[in-house]
Amino acid sequence: MVELAVEARNITKVFSGTVRALDGLSIGVEAGKVFAMLGPNGSGKTTLMRILTTQIKATSGMASVFGLDVSREGKRIRETISYVPQEMSVWTDITGYENMLVFSKIYGIPSSQRKGMIDDALAEMDLAEFADKLVRIYSGGMIRRLEIASALLIKPRLLFLDEPTIGLDPSARKIVWDKVLAFKKELGTTVFFNTHYMDEADAYADQITIISKGKEVASGGPASGMPSVACSSRVISAISCSTSAC
Ligand SMILES: Nc1ncnc2c1ncn2[C@@H]1O[C@H](COP(=O)(O)OP(=O)(O)O)[C@@H](O)[C@H]1O
Ligand SMILES: [Mg+2]
Repeated sequence: MVELAVEARNITKVFSGTVRALDGLSIGVEAGKVFAMLGPNGSGKTTLMRILTTQIKATSGMASVFGLDVSREGKRIRETISYVPQEMSVWTDITGYENMLVFSKIYGIPSSQRKGMIDDALAEMDLAEFADKLVRIYSGGMIRRLEIASALLIKPRLLFLDEPTIGLDPSARKIVWDKVLAFKKELGTTVFFNTHYMDEADAYADQITIISKGKEVASGGPASGMPSVACSSRVISAISCSTSAC
């Protein structure tokens, strides 16, 4: 039987009694795969990720992470996942190493293990030679890789990335993905990412769900002709569609 890293059934989230961010959304993410949630701005991607990472509660529906209920077993879930938010989540006025040190303390990594784990994670993201430089001199791609390095400190079973390459140029985007996929291959980590870049979902995801206005529009894998399914769907006019299939 296929193990599910994430299962969500009929999730609805209503903000302030009126804003229906998610409207009966269901997904199943296979363990060990790369899953893309693709949709235009405002379609509910971040809201779902916040529910799955136990930051907010759904209005109705159920969701679980490796079989653990997000509304009741948050602590156990948070021990097995890492999350890189869309907004910048590192400090620019200290060095990359110092940022990692802060995160290693937050994660409760014993002091005797910290240096080794930080050095490994920075090397994994190709940042070793910049470890002692202030983050303010880093490029956008390097900052993203530092954020991911901090998320990898706990060697998560499931890594959530919210718009991991937004604002980066194509070569920086590729480096970020090369590094994430190398880590995934090494540890078998499940990767769940949000994006509004169709080409990125197509290139890197094993499984894609397209949403619009909090509802599923299409679902499948790139090999099953997903882009053309997506292109013919009613949501695609709102998505920046950049594959040749479009
Ligand atoms: N805390 C909040 N309060 C009110 N409305 C919100 C809140 N968070 C998100 N929304 C609304 O929910 C909808 C989905 O937002 P979001 O999940 O951020 O979409 P996406 O990540 O796909 O851009 C949008 O209409 C957004 O304005
Ligand atoms: Mg978002």
